[in-house]
Amino acid sequence: VETDVATPGPSPQQAAEIARFDRYVIGSIARQALVLVRGAGSTVWDGDGRAYLDFYAGRGTANLGHCHPAVVMAVHRHADRLLHVGNDFYSRPQGELAERLVRASFDGQVFFSNSGAEANETALKLARRHGTLTGRGGEAIVAVTRGFHGRTMGALSATGTDSYRDGFEPLVPGFRHVELNDLGALEGALEPGVGGMIVELVQGEAGVYPANSEWIRRARELCSKHDIALIFDEVQTAIGRCGPLFAYQRYGVTPDVMTLAKSLAGGVPIGATVIATRLCSVLGPGTHASTFGGAPLACAAALAVLDVLEHSDLLERASAAAEYLDARLSDLASACAPVVEVRGVGLMRAIELRDDLADELTRRCRERHALLIAKTGPRTLRLLPALIVTNGEIDLAIGALEEELATFEHHAPRPEQGTQ
Ligand SMILES: Cc1ncc(COP(=O)(O)O)c(C=O)c1O
Repeated sequence: VETDVATPGPSPQQAAEIARFDRYVIGSIARQALVLVRGAGSTVWDGDGRAYLDFYAGRGTANLGHCHPAVVMAVHRHADRLLHVGNDFYSRPQGELAERLVRASFDGQVFFSNSGAEANETALKLARRHGTLTGRGGEAIVAVTRGFHGRTMGALSATGTDSYRDGFEPLVPGFRHVELNDLGALEGALEPGVGGMIVELVQGEAGVYPANSEWIRRARELCSKHDIALIFDEVQTAIGRCGPLFAYQRYGVTPDVMTLAKSLAGGVPIGATVIATRLCSVLGPGTHASTFGGAPLACAAALAVLDVLEHSDLLERASAAAEYLDARLSDLASACAPVVEVRGVGLMRAIELRDDLADELTRRCRERHALLIAKTGPRTLRLLPALIVTNGEIDLAIGALEEELATFEHHAPRPEQGTQ
């Protein structure tokens, strides 16, 4: 297999930065050998000034593209005015953002935090307390096999993949997992005595597996019947990633609780848990809080994101780009023997490979084509381009993948270390 690279490796200065990082930053995350220093739109630049097409969108945090001018301006403005106030006081951007999120989704209230895991912790605490308060002994929480909800102990307990959980047991008790899209399993699990169910509408980290509509509708019916809090983890699927602002709007099924993070504030850390009116009293005064949650800076950035989406045709343009990507991926699947399947929704797509080629392909795309893509497993590539992606950029990415996949038609891959 040809492994020569078209671009030189990192400069001595970039290599030294990587060495310092590896020496002093804990190694719990495997990284690609690149120091990124700047971003604009769908492009990021490394420490040597080399530009890369980003089909990763900052791990799904840059749906509007990197450093969107409206977000940057909002951050500048608020950095000058008020960086933070304690949540013992009121602050304007938090109240306004809560109103905008509720008006854009379903009636209720919002709890703000700083990350996806925290948004889910809030939802899980709410579900448990809801089950407890109803006096039905309803502490159990149903989650989905291979779902991913974050790395804190509660979110990890909901996460249904052993590799993330290994070595961290005992986890929080009371979680049961059902298979995605298995109707029979739902019927058995959603019974009186369950406080909540948490589900991703498209399982991202597992490899981009969409839930089917019938299954989601049945979950809704059973949760309503047994007074179970239905939680949609939209940390990755929201902010236009799957078409509409929130993915549940595509399914036509409204949850009781929705969790948001990643792209909500255009790259500034934020977490939000939107809670339907009937459950708002579950988290009364003193039950839950966060020092930085709802900080003016993050909320101002999120308001800028919502402004851009509400006052432009970006969601429509992203849907057109998603259709184009879908067609080009289908071509790729027919043309390239190593591709077993392509799947996904909107601009959240996966390419399933016949062999363990994902490490080698992400490396070659980066080094030979200046293209950043992610993998979610040894055989699964994930594409998460920004909503502003153009057909030309999609052609570049698919062309690069086609060229590299062609070299694997008859050869075994060179084994390499994981990169994610
Ligand atoms: C669906 C989903 N939920 C939760 C999380 C955790 O978010 P965070 O890393 O911000 O804690 C992620 C992160 O990838 C995610 O994809």
